[in-house]
Amino acid sequence: MCGIVGYVGKEEATKILLDGLTKLEYRGYDSAGIAIRNKSEDLRIVRAEGVLKNLIDKVNALGDIKSTSGIAHTRWATHGDQSERNAHPHSSNDNFIVGVHNGIIENFQELKEKLLHNGYTFYSNTDTEVLIKLVDYYYKKYKGGPIDAINKVMVRARGSFAIALMFKDFPDEIWFAKKGSPLIVGKSDTGCFLASDIPAILKHTNKVYYVEDFQSGCMKNNSIIFYDLNGDDVTSSMELKTIDWQLSDTEKGNYPFYMIKEIEEQPKAVWACLNVYTKNDLVDFDSIGITKGYLKSLDMVYILGCGSAYNVGRVSECIIEELTDVGVRVELASEFKYRCYKLKKNSLAIIISQSGETKDSYEALQKCKEEGIKTLSIVNVKGSAIPRAADYNIYTYAGPEIAVATTKAYSSQLIIMYLFALALAEAKGDISQSEMKTYIKELKALPDKMESILSNKASVQKFANQFVSKKDVFFIGREMDYAICEEGSLKFKEVTYIHSEAKPAGELKHGTLSLVTTGVPVIVVATQPELIEKSMANMEEVKSRGANVIAITLEEFNVSNSSKYQIYIPKTNKLFTSSLVIIYLQLLAYYVSIAKGINPDQPRNLAKSVTVE
Ligand code: BG6
Repeated sequence: MCGIVGYVGKEEATKILLDGLTKLEYRGYDSAGIAIRNKSEDLRIVRAEGVLKNLIDKVNALGDIKSTSGIAHTRWATHGDQSERNAHPHSSNDNFIVGVHNGIIENFQELKEKLLHNGYTFYSNTDTEVLIKLVDYYYKKYKGGPIDAINKVMVRARGSFAIALMFKDFPDEIWFAKKGSPLIVGKSDTGCFLASDIPAILKHTNKVYYVEDFQSGCMKNNSIIFYDLNGDDVTSSMELKTIDWQLSDTEKGNYPFYMIKEIEEQPKAVWACLNVYTKNDLVDFDSIGITKGYLKSLDMVYILGCGSAYNVGRVSECIIEELTDVGVRVELASEFKYRCYKLKKNSLAIIISQSGETKDSYEALQKCKEEGIKTLSIVNVKGSAIPRAADYNIYTYAGPEIAVATTKAYSSQLIIMYLFALALAEAKGDISQSEMKTYIKELKALPDKMESILSNKASVQKFANQFVSKKDVFFIGREMDYAICEEGSLKFKEVTYIHSEAKPAGELKHGTLSLVTTGVPVIVVATQPELIEKSMANMEEVKSRGANVIAITLEEFNVSNSSKYQIYIPKTNKLFTSSLVIIYLQLLAYYVSIAKGINPDQPRNLAKSVTVE
């Protein structure tokens, strides 16, 4: 979804705003814009279609501009095409009010008719222009000041929004409001900042307030005031939080792209999780408040998420089923909200999300709460909406993840789910403490094995070119190997724009095999000892149709006759092979992406966290 930034203070606002946008571009790169003001001088608005660089070039062409306050936006189009006309900031026809918005106004058509009826005209097809003009309408009609107008809009507009506004009457003041979409505000010695996400302002401050739903406020003269829906000042109740991320964590460093940097950071991210959530080679969830007794009481686990987070659930399902008799159901959060089956009592809903802001996952969590089901969130971004609503929270210590296609957060979430499955199995008496210790030792050996794979990236890069011209690619496997293929295929699609499908290997012959012809690449993941013969039969099956078979397997399985190429993962417990296989699949997607000249950090039409349904 979009990214917004705002600043007022003593420093050059334009530079701070454009810098902030570069750190939010993973939230959308269809167009960008900025509105700046120097003290009480008139506002200047600059907008540009496409990636942020186009806006930066336009602003630089304006020469040396002075500005003490401003707002800025990078867009992921939902209403209206990617044109400059639909780019933010949007303004009232007299530029009296100018604003940027992250979210969706569901009843914008109805509001637009109301405003048209009151003489307003429109130059774009965005919901945001309607929102800004609705603020203008209430501001001018009731003359109750910015907070009164904003609060009226908060009630009248349905949907989600985080907005930042500049009013002609109030130079050097930035007004803001939140309902559903993320918004943080922070302060440094030289000014006040607001943004959709931490990386945008981390350069200036690591002290932030998380704006709550239906809150609004104003930044001016190095002070920030918060208001509730009644217009009462609630600043004293706000808690200033300290962010434990380093600015360097949000920088690319010497890497060409964030995706390869984050792929390389996986051993460290996995270590961080194991350090925090194990003690004496046993799982330690005490800090989270999940007791052995509670785990023992569980009969059912629901795992909910979107995209790669859902795929973590798919692998976890196989492990929980392998270790315990507890029921598991994995659901796409966007579907789960509308399923009609009754959630079982004695169950726990686990909501997995890197950003902690994905709307579909947030709504799925709310449904579980409404049905009285306990919720556990596994999230990477502290203070985000999902952990603030969940009963229990487990943070993954992967650090800021900037590339749109998740990698290190996926691997951290997987480790957490391994630990959860082991803790559940031990609580249920399905495994002993000494068996758990053996598993944990195996997990603690994973980071080195990941390092050994990463030290030989060339073994994957050599395959990249043969994929560049392909139209179809298949990832097949059985049971847990199929589940990891789902993530491999999603990564591949996300950053290469080549159609790929993950299929259960045994299912191919029931239809999809018609698409396997000479030269079609088929990646076969075969890491499960009890299924290797079946998987080799499937290799033969596609090979006989002319497919280029690449087997990702273990050295002990001799598949060289059934496959054209073999990639051997380091030996590990069969429950944890996914954590090693995924590194190869991420690297394949990355190298094919750059071989095609694609920027893997910002795949077209996608965004890092989607805060709309
Ligand atoms: C998509 C991202 O927008 O959302 C995916 O491009 C991600 O990489 C999915 O897996 C879910 O996001 P989150 O933040 O809820 O894990």
